[in-house]
Amino acid sequence: MRHVKVMLLAGAGIVAAGLLLVTQPGTKPPARLDAHRLTGDVSSGQLRRVLEAADVIDTTVPKAELIAEGKHLFRDPALYQDGLSCQGCHTEGGANADLGTQVHPTSAGDFVGPRDPPALWGVGDTAPYLWTGSAPDLEGLLTRLIRNFFKDGNPTGERVAALAAYLRSLEPPVSSFDLGTMSSAALRGQRLFQGKAGCISCHSGPLLTDNRLHNTLVPQVPGANDPGAANPPHSFNTPQLRDVANTAPYMHNGVFTTLRQVVEFYDKTASTAPLNLTDQEMNDLVAYLNAL
Ligand code: HEC
Ligand code: HEC
Repeated sequence: MRHVKVMLLAGAGIVAAGLLLVTQPGTKPPARLDAHRLTGDVSSGQLRRVLEAADVIDTTVPKAELIAEGKHLFRDPALYQDGLSCQGCHTEGGANADLGTQVHPTSAGDFVGPRDPPALWGVGDTAPYLWTGSAPDLEGLLTRLIRNFFKDGNPTGERVAALAAYLRSLEPPVSSFDLGTMSSAALRGQRLFQGKAGCISCHSGPLLTDNRLHNTLVPQVPGANDPGAANPPHSFNTPQLRDVANTAPYMHNGVFTTLRQVVEFYDKTASTAPLNLTDQEMNDLVAYLNAL
C-alpha cells in the first residue's frame, strides 16, 4: 500500500510539472532537452577535482546522511533551471515516459529521434550509462548533469557524492521474483528465457543485463534516424529488466508499448530471430517479465 501512495503523490507532481511545460508554447526548447549531454562545460581538470572531492566526502560522511542529501538534490525543483528535477523523469527511481522522453535533435548536428528514460534500479551496478554507453561512470555523468541542469551549474564534490549515494541506494521494488513466489506460467517463462529463447545471453546476472552494447535490430520510430553507438555499429546498451512491467514503453526509443510486442520482436525480427516460439511460450515469457 505504501508503494501505491508514493506513486500517487509522485503522479501529482508529474501533472504539476507537465502543466508547467505546456504553458510555454513556442518558446525555445528548454535546456533540459540537452539533459545528459556529455559535452557541456566541464573541463577534464574540473572533472578530476570534483571526482577527487566526491571520493573524500564518500569515505568521510556517513552513508545515511549522504543518501538523504542526495534524495533532496534529486527532487527539489527549486534547484533546477526550469523546475524539472530528476524526479520528474526518473520518478522514485523508475521511469516516467510522459515527461522523461527526450526528443532529439537538441542541437545542430544531433541525431533525430526519441530517447526513453531508463529506470534507475541497481544503477550503481550497470555501468556504462546512457543508451549508447557513452558515460563510463556514475560520478562523471552526475558531474555533467549538475553542470547542465542546476540553476547554479555548480557540481561540487558534496553534491556528486550525495546524488551518487542516493542513486546507489535505489533497489528495484520487491516482486515475486525476489520472494520465490512466481506463478507456474512465469516459471515456464524463466526456463524459456534461460533456454530456448536465449535471452540470458545478454540479460544475465541479478539485474538481467550484461552491461554491454548490442545491435539487436530494434526498428526506428517513424521519421527517426538514431544510429546508436558506433562500436559495435548501431548498438545500444542492454537495459536491466527489474520492474520492467512498470516502465513502458520499451527500447531506447520506446518503439514497443507492451511486453508482448517486445517478445514478438525477439521471436520474429531481432538479430537473434527466429525463435519459433508458440503463442503459449510467448505468453509464458511475458508472465516472467511481468514477475521481475
Ligand atoms: C527531461 C527528463 C530527464 C531529467 C530531468 C533527468 N533525466 Fe536522467 N535520463 C533521461 C533520459 C531520456 C535518459 C536516457 C538518455 C540517453 O541515453 O539518451 C536518462 C538517463 C539517465 C541515466 C543513465 C541510466 C542508465 O542506466 O544508463 C542516469 C544515471 C540518469 N539519467 C540520472 C539522472 C539524474 C541524477 C537527474 C537529475 C540531476 C536526471 N537523470 C534528470 C531523462 C531525464
Ligand atoms: C543480443 C543481446 C540480447 C538478447 C539475446 C536479448 N536482448 Fe533484450 N535487449 C538487448 C538490448 C541491447 C536492448 C536495448 C535495445 C534498444 O533499446 O535498442 C534490449 C532491450 C530489451 C527490453 C526492453 C527493456 C526496456 O526497459 O526498454 C526487454 C523487455 C528485453 N530486451 C527482453 C528480452 C527478452 C525477453 C529476450 C529473449 C527473448 C531478450 N531481451 C534477448 C539485448 C538483448
